[in-house]
Amino acid sequence: MDSPLDTPPPDRILRAAVIGAGYWGPNLARNFASSPRWDLVAVCDLDAERAAKVARAAGGAQAMTSVDELLARDDVDAVAIATPARTHHALVMAALRAGKHVVVEKPIADDVDAAREMIAEAAARGLVLMTDHTFCYTPAVVKIRELIEAGELGEILFVDSVRINLGLVQQDVDVFWDLAPHDLSILDYILPGGLQPESVAAHGADPLGAGKACVGHLVLPLPGGAVAHVNVNWLSPTKIRSFTVGGSRRTLVWDDLNPQQRLSVYDRGVDLETQALDRLDRKHATISYRLGDTWSPALKEREALGAMVAELADSITQGRAPLTDGAAGLRVLNILAAASASLAAGGDACPVAMEPVVIGTETRDELVGEPV
Ligand SMILES: NC(=O)c1ccc[n+]([C@@H]2O[C@H](COP(=O)([O-])OP(=O)(O)OC[C@H]3O[C@@H](n4cnc5c(N)ncnc54)[C@H](O)[C@@H]3O)[C@@H](O)[C@H]2O)c1
Repeated sequence: MDSPLDTPPPDRILRAAVIGAGYWGPNLARNFASSPRWDLVAVCDLDAERAAKVARAAGGAQAMTSVDELLARDDVDAVAIATPARTHHALVMAALRAGKHVVVEKPIADDVDAAREMIAEAAARGLVLMTDHTFCYTPAVVKIRELIEAGELGEILFVDSVRINLGLVQQDVDVFWDLAPHDLSILDYILPGGLQPESVAAHGADPLGAGKACVGHLVLPLPGGAVAHVNVNWLSPTKIRSFTVGGSRRTLVWDDLNPQQRLSVYDRGVDLETQALDRLDRKHATISYRLGDTWSPALKEREALGAMVAELADSITQGRAPLTDGAAGLRVLNILAAASASLAAGGDACPVAMEPVVIGTETRDELVGEPV
């Protein structure tokens, strides 16, 4: 983003308002209200009762039903938008045009061109546009990113993510658009250079006749012949949240439903003795198995949304893009759009649109070959 016109001093308490007081909005309201960096000044919902209930529970913020009136207030620095995806574009654009910083729920929008317009508007106005990719603020995901960055896992060979449970069959979106943003945003956050696969193949099933995929699998090729696989399902009687990152040195398993040992790092794997053999001879290479120790990294105890609202405050006062900015939201959206195209094409792999990586005001392509 460009330099903000009016960066508040780092010690000023910022003022937030939450738009949308349904299922997720109350969690945002509670975290803004309990953060030392924020005052929660208002909660806005078309449904007056919901707004009042959430405002009361969050310590007495003002309840409102008009977004226009909320955005006209000059005592609001940032708005958090927790309404259905189809409303994000109009609400985000109105908030940015009113000079507010914005954090918007996942998925950033229901259409890639809409997301591009939101990102351009924020950049032109020097305002923060953040996507609430909540899982990226969990201690487990922060640790996974650190371990990958430090080379503890070696080269990434595969990622396998399972997110299945008895879920609410959503009115407006299929299971990919509802659940896979979590897996895709985690992948985008932990993989060096983010997640920009060339293509995605999606297989979905609608065994209930709900009119949309309720069970789905995504296959995303990763650099160097690696692959990521995502399994999302609203119909599973058991809840599983399992995320495995296989590396050439170690393999990591994150079981989010096991608070005693969420992360396990296995010093186990398969090695191919290929020295002195060229690629064509690999089938004759010797295979050996490493059967070393398993350990469990210590994780901080903290609520992800507390870290998310702190990151929003830091990005505003430091005049920088947040960790999960609009571009991260757009990368996830590009994959969801390609997944929908793949579903319509019977599971054929479909290309994923590539976005230029913006560094300051230049793109990474323009910087190739120059010292940075
Ligand atoms: N980050 C996460 O882990 C997470 C979890 C759940 C939902 N979400 C996201 O949060 C968003 C909302 O989901 P939800 O399940 O809370 O939906 P919901 O339907 O329960 O609540 C949406 C609320 O928005 C209000 N609303 C709709 N349009 C409005 C408008 N124009 N102005 C003011 N209020 C308006 C509705 O009255 C409703 O109260 C979605 O984008 C969803 O994907 C994120």
